[in-house]
Formats: sequence, structure tokens, C-alpha cells
Amino acid sequence: MQATRIERLTSSLVRDILAVATRPGMISFAGGLPAEEGLFRPQDAGIDLNAFPDNLWQYGMSEGEPALREWVAQRASGMGLECSPEQVLILSGSQQGIDLVAKLLVDESTDILVESPAYLAALQVFRLFGARMHDIRQDEEGAMPSALAAAPQARFAYFTPTFQNPTGRCATPERRAELAGLCDRRGLTVFEDDPYRDLSFDAPPPAPLVSHLAKSRWIYQGSFSKTLSPGLRLGYLVAHPDLITPLVRLKQAADLHTNRLSQFIVLLALQQGLVERHVASNLPLYRERRDAMHAVLQEKLAGEASWVKPSGGLFFWLQLQRKIDGMALLQEALERGLAFMPGDPFFAGQPEYPALRLNFSHSTPEEIRRGVAILAELLGR
Ligand SMILES: Cc1ncc(COP(=O)(O)O)c(C=O)c1O
Repeated sequence: MQATRIERLTSSLVRDILAVATRPGMISFAGGLPAEEGLFRPQDAGIDLNAFPDNLWQYGMSEGEPALREWVAQRASGMGLECSPEQVLILSGSQQGIDLVAKLLVDESTDILVESPAYLAALQVFRLFGARMHDIRQDEEGAMPSALAAAPQARFAYFTPTFQNPTGRCATPERRAELAGLCDRRGLTVFEDDPYRDLSFDAPPPAPLVSHLAKSRWIYQGSFSKTLSPGLRLGYLVAHPDLITPLVRLKQAADLHTNRLSQFIVLLALQQGLVERHVASNLPLYRERRDAMHAVLQEKLAGEASWVKPSGGLFFWLQLQRKIDGMALLQEALERGLAFMPGDPFFAGQPEYPALRLNFSHSTPEEIRRGVAILAELLGR
């Protein structure tokens, strides 16, 4: 016998496709993978295991390593999110933050607001815990304020306003302030997911949405996956003082604490200025790949799709002119050696329009050209 919620546990399409996409010779636009040559490898960066404290191999604190919590609090405060290190929880990847926040805020049939489209592994978690999801539509400036009025019973809202997964969009400062004002008035708890902030190619992104809140409770989270290495499984959250204690208890119940080796690797890298240097050296590579994908999309798919050139993050979001069967298209593409993500699973409810998500960070410009050519051929048929 299984818990009833297991009936709602859908498989993560990304992880299923990734299993196929990592086959040799495959061009993969599917996952949100950093470039292989852009991964932070501690041994290459000169991180010395002997510099770590002796007690590293012992159990640690559920909240995380104090010095790392201090760094997170300083970073958040620097972005206008005044907070103390006591409000910080170090996570086993920011995916864990989504799980903990859902456990904290979602009961069976809890009404919640999610961007449409939204990060599909967040939708997977919210669905598992029984959330009734209401769409927040988006326009060029980000999530649309009018959507917040549509579900008056909603208790919390999930936003990824900075280089959103999947759309790559970045909400304007005015839009963030307007949304925060509405959330304040509604008393909505706001959950802001921000793993792409440092992957900004053109101009620094605006301050977090939650930094505009005056009254509402909030959780803000970030990650080292996209800037350093996802294999570290290291992220963090900062929460309103009312929410941090139950979140720490949920973390205890989940895994006692985050892997201390990863925490010390990142801490040492931060102290030695290696993180900033690493991110700065990756940006030209990602910008080049973004530009390569934009150019070949313009050349091959201008008649079939529309998109906004992302100013950060890892994805192009293609809105298609014609209805397609995304899964059938993917199947054909896989046979031709190309993987991508169909758009439908990124919508909590009925898809608003046919779409595809293409990752540009994990492929070379040459692979990008070949991959988009395959896609154009399949879509042209
Ligand atoms: C919006 C968003 N949130 C959270 C995550 C999870 O990241 P991680 O657990 O590696 O920090 C991802 C990964 O793709 C993401 O796109």
C-alpha cells in the first residue's frame, strides 16, 4: 500500500530525458546543465583538503556552517533583503528548498499561485503535496499583476522573476515592486526562487521581488549549482523570522544537515575569491552560446516560432506558431540525436500555447547550429 499522494507523483520529464540525452553523440538542449568546461572542479581550482577543519567528517548543524550562513546573509542584505545569519538555512541544492517550503505551506487542496509557465520540478513538488495551482500569466515585463486577483483564496505565490526557467524572462523593477505591493495587501506568503541571478550577460538584474515586501512573509532561495557545479548539491534559503524555525525542523527531519564537504569547498572558494573569478570567466562562454543560438534560430526558425533573447540564465523559450505534439516531436528528434524539452509540462494546467525550451549552455556553438538545424527540419515538415 502506498500513500495517496503517490498517485500524484509524476515522473520528472527532465530527468527521464536527461537519461537519454547523456548518450554519446547526443546534442542536448534538454536539461539546465552548466557547460562541462564551466564546471567548478575544486582540485583544478587549487582547493586544499588540508585547509579544512579536522571535525569536518563529524555531524554538523542542521542550519548549515555558520560562516556560510554569514556569507549568505551578507549577500542577501547587499541585495536589499535585510536579514541576519539566523534567518539562513543551507540546503542540499535549492530543489530541497522547494520540498521544504511545500511541506511547510501546502496541505491537500491548498490554493497556491504559480507563474505560467513555471519550473516543472517545482510544479512536481507542489502537485505531490496536493496544491491546487492557479496560473499567473506573464508578459514581457514578468508575472502579470492582474493574475493575483484571480485566486483570492490562494495562500502563497511562487515566483522566479530573474531569468526564469523556462522563459528566460527577467521582471522589471517596477513589476517586482507592483507584485510585492499586491502580495502585501493580500497577505500572500511569497516564495522567490533565484538560481540564475549571477548568470547575467548584459546588465545586472534588479533587486529580488521579496526585497520590495513590507508586510508579507517570504522565503528567498539561491543555489551554487548553476554558477559552480550542480554535483556539489548546495543551495541556501533565507526566510522571514516567523518561518525559519519550522523550516530548520523540516530540514532536520529530511536529512539532518547538508553535506559538510560541499559547504567547506564553497566556503573556501568564497574566501579565496574563486567563486567570483569562476563566474566571471564563464560569462563570455555562456554569452557566446546564447548569441550563437539566437543567430541560428533567427536564420532557421523565424517563421515557425517567436522568442525573446534572454539576457541571462540558461534557456530560450520558443513559442510556436502552430500546434504540435511535443512528445512526438521529441521522439523524432531523439532518433536524430537531439534532445530538448517540450513546453507543455511547464504549465500547471492547460498549456497556454505550444512551446519548446532549449538550453544553450551545455552545447558548443557548432552543436547548437546542428541541433537547431535538426529542429527546424522537423518543425518544417
Ligand atoms: C528555478 C529552479 N529552481 C531550483 C532548481 C534546482 O536547482 P538545485 O537543486 O541544483 O540548486 C532549478 C534547477 O534547474 C531551477 O531551474
